[in-house]
Formats: sequence, C-alpha cells, structure tokens
Amino acid sequence: MRNNTLNKRTLVLGLETSCDETAVSVVADGEHILSNVVASQMEVHQRFGGVVPEVASRRHVENITLVIQEALDQAEVKLNEITAIAVTQGPGLVGALLIGVSAAKALSFSTGIPLIPVHHIAGHIYANHLIQPLSFPLVALVVSGGHTELIYMKDHMQFERLGRTRDDAAGEAYDKVARLLQLPYPGGPQVEKLAQRGKPSYSLPRAWLEEGSFDFSFSGLKSAVMNTIHNATQRGEEIYSADLAASFQAAVIEVLVEKSLAAVKARGVNQLLLAGGVSANKALRSALTSRTNTTDVCLRLPPLSLCTDNAAMIAAAGTFAYQGGHRADFTLNANANLPLINEEAAE
Ligand code: KG4
Ligand code: ZN
Repeated sequence: MRNNTLNKRTLVLGLETSCDETAVSVVADGEHILSNVVASQMEVHQRFGGVVPEVASRRHVENITLVIQEALDQAEVKLNEITAIAVTQGPGLVGALLIGVSAAKALSFSTGIPLIPVHHIAGHIYANHLIQPLSFPLVALVVSGGHTELIYMKDHMQFERLGRTRDDAAGEAYDKVARLLQLPYPGGPQVEKLAQRGKPSYSLPRAWLEEGSFDFSFSGLKSAVMNTIHNATQRGEEIYSADLAASFQAAVIEVLVEKSLAAVKARGVNQLLLAGGVSANKALRSALTSRTNTTDVCLRLPPLSLCTDNAAMIAAAGTFAYQGGHRADFTLNANANLPLINEEAAE
C-alpha cells in the first residue's frame, strides 16, 4: 500500500558535497522531506581555522556511500523507487564537488535513474519551498560563505541576477572578522553570539556603491575592522570586541536589508526570500522582519535547520529541474564556478 502511494510521487535523491558537509536527502514531490542526512566535518576543519579542501574531499569519499544508504533507510525508500538523482554540480570546492558528482553519476549509470545537475544557490533558494511553496515573482537575498546576491525569479528555475558582491561574500566577511577577533571556525555564528553582548559603538563604513546599484562590497568593512584593532593595539587601547562585533554586524545587516528592500521596490514584487548560511543570523532575520512589517512585502525566512548546506534543498531544486526537463549525461563534471544563469547572455 505504502509503495503504491510512493510510486505515484516524484522521489528525488539529493547529493550535496560542495564544501564541508556530506549531505544526502530524499524529498517527495519537491516539498516533503523524507530524510535529510548531514555528515558535518566541522570538527575536523576547526583545528585548521577553516576548510582544508584536500581534507574535505577525503572525508566526502569516506562518508558518501554510508550517507546515501542512511538517507534511503531513514526515508524507507529503495533505490529503485527513486525518480531522479539530483547533485550539486557547483559552485564550490572542485575536489569536494567531484565526490558528489561521481557518486551521483555512478548511481545513475548503474540504475538508469535520470541524473539532474543542480546549482548550489538554486538549492539554497529552494530550501524555502520545503516549508511553503514559492510564490512568484520574488526577489531572493542569497547570503552564504561564497555568495551574496540579489536574484529575481519570475517563475520556477528562472533566475535573473540583480546584484552580487564585488569582493567578499557576507559569510566570508563574518568568517574573516571572526579570525581577526580570534574566534574559532566557523566564524559567523561566533561573531553573532559575541555581537549579542555588545553595542554598535564603533563607527564602520557601509558600502552603498553607486546610486541604484544592487551590488555589494564587504572587503572595505573587513579592512576597517582590521584597522580599528591595529590602531587600538598600537595606541595600547583596549578593544571592546563585543562592541566591535556588534558594529560590524550592524554595518553588514544595514546594507543587506536596505538593498533587498530597494530591489523588491525596483522590481515591483511583494515576495522577499532569504537564503544561504547567513540566513541563520537572528539579527539579520529580525532586521528584515521589522523592516518589512510595515510594508506589504511578504518575507520568507528559511527555518534554521535548512539555512546552512544540506541536500534536501538540492533535491527540492532538483525536482523542479527534473520537471522542467533538465538532464545530464555521464560527461557531467563538477564546476567550481558554475554560473546560476547564463552569465554571458546577461552581461
Ligand atoms: O550556505 P553555507 O552553509 O555554505 C556556503 O554555501 O558557503 O554558508 C556558510 C556561511 C559561513 O560563512 C558561516 O560563517 C555563515 O554562513 N553563517 C553565519 C551564521 N551561520 C552561518 N553568518 C552569520 N551568522 C550566523 N548565525
Ligand atoms: Zn551553501
């Protein structure tokens, strides 16, 4: 009986190995998570103060088959019941991506199940679909360790980039500032925790860029934090690190929130969606919430469990790619710089 019901559903096995999480998930009909297994390597990389690509790849090799099996077992689904295999093709660490792509190709080759390449950022956006169906048109603010982008979507799997960071991504800035403040990896949550105890009393720059630009820049802010620490040290003054963390966070969030609202207005949409690892930041979530409360903009925040890298989001995006007819053959290769849209056509 259960199998008969399952057979009518689109069951997508998602694989995500773009950075330091080996993740596999089974998602039904693009919205029901049947399993979502994440083998985190955080502890391994912590002692190096950041992700070591070679170590990440080796860990993925060790974990991937076990995690695939675990995801199928938890979902109570057999491999031959799977409709499609979705895998993160990029962007990310090429050696890490390759493990997921090779595993997905091998599974697809041995079973005949279609292989679906997924862009990591599309995955982050579709994490929201696992909570409530996306409604279009929308603007997505994607903030992760590798990306800070404003994306306009008029329909499923149609992405138009409105702006992106010209240097550091927001998460990357958090991680670098964490290192300056001698906080452990991964830095984002640590800076947030420290900031909760401080006041934004340091004056730090906001990079608004040219009038009307939806691009971002965070490297100047990071340098300003570095200079503040350096100057105080030279003068023998004390650094109030909680206040500095709060000041840094206030500067990042103000720019993210204002540019997102401006993009929503410019495109005349009323759906604003947050995505990517930095969406876990409570100060960002509450700033967006209070800024949109008095407008007719409907704000969609991913649950904390789906903010950072996972494979349910890849399976969800993969379902729409599958339904849209996207397929890969066995020449599929990992692409560390995979564009979300046809960037040549867009530029
Ligand atoms: O999306 P994600 O898991 O991986 C990438 O695709 O990059 O994002 C990881 C990034 C890291 O830079 C991490 O420091 C940041 O998200 N991050 C946070 C928080 N949680 C994760 N940044 C600020 N506040 C947080 N609570
Ligand atoms: Zn990510």
